[in-house]
Amino acid sequence: MLKLQYLGHAAFSLTDGKYVLLIDPFISGNQLAKVEAEELNPTHILLTHGHGDHLGDAIDIAKRTGALIIAPTELANYCENKGARSHAMYMGTYHFDFGKLRMTPAWHGSSIEEKGTSIYLGTPCGYVIYLGGKCVYHAGDTGIFGDMALIGRMNPLDCALLPIGGNFTMDPEEALEAALMLKPKLVIPMHFNTFPVIKQDAKQFVKDVEKKGLKALTLAPGESIEI
Ligand code: NI
Ligand code: MN
Repeated sequence: MLKLQYLGHAAFSLTDGKYVLLIDPFISGNQLAKVEAEELNPTHILLTHGHGDHLGDAIDIAKRTGALIIAPTELANYCENKGARSHAMYMGTYHFDFGKLRMTPAWHGSSIEEKGTSIYLGTPCGYVIYLGGKCVYHAGDTGIFGDMALIGRMNPLDCALLPIGGNFTMDPEEALEAALMLKPKLVIPMHFNTFPVIKQDAKQFVKDVEKKGLKALTLAPGESIEI
């Protein structure tokens, strides 16, 4: 059993009833979010990169709950220096207490502005998460790349969380092609409509994915499903 809750933008909470994995918790800065960062009690926080709309409330939540932050090494070290517990990784696989986690590539950037300068935080990433007997791919912020076919071949994806906003990431046309490579049982779009520059018609994206014989659905911020 796996319960998946969409928290808005690229933020999701996944739980098997024992472990709670929070991904990219951009909550207090997101006007569309329907939960409060203070209500979230994860055991682990997965970060795909250091941009503010992904790092979000991660450090505050980690310090309050003791949750372990999992991130690419430079970002993990940044969080550790701010007082959070962290586990540093690069592209590859590690077996955590909750299950197997693969860090996957993403074509994007990773930096944070501090005191007027940009601090670079290493490579951005995505994740393949094995939890509760299910397998979920969170692509992170990324453009399309052909190795998504390899990710799909190596992992029996129950669900793929794909950015469709365009400009910083794949747009709906690219995300549709990504879905065809990944072959998940379910596609859920993310990273759209939070800002004007990433406005997209997610309902149309769902229709276009379903025309290709894959299942897809949109979740409103705060909404949950069981997969
Ligand atoms: Ni980003
Ligand atoms: Mn982003």
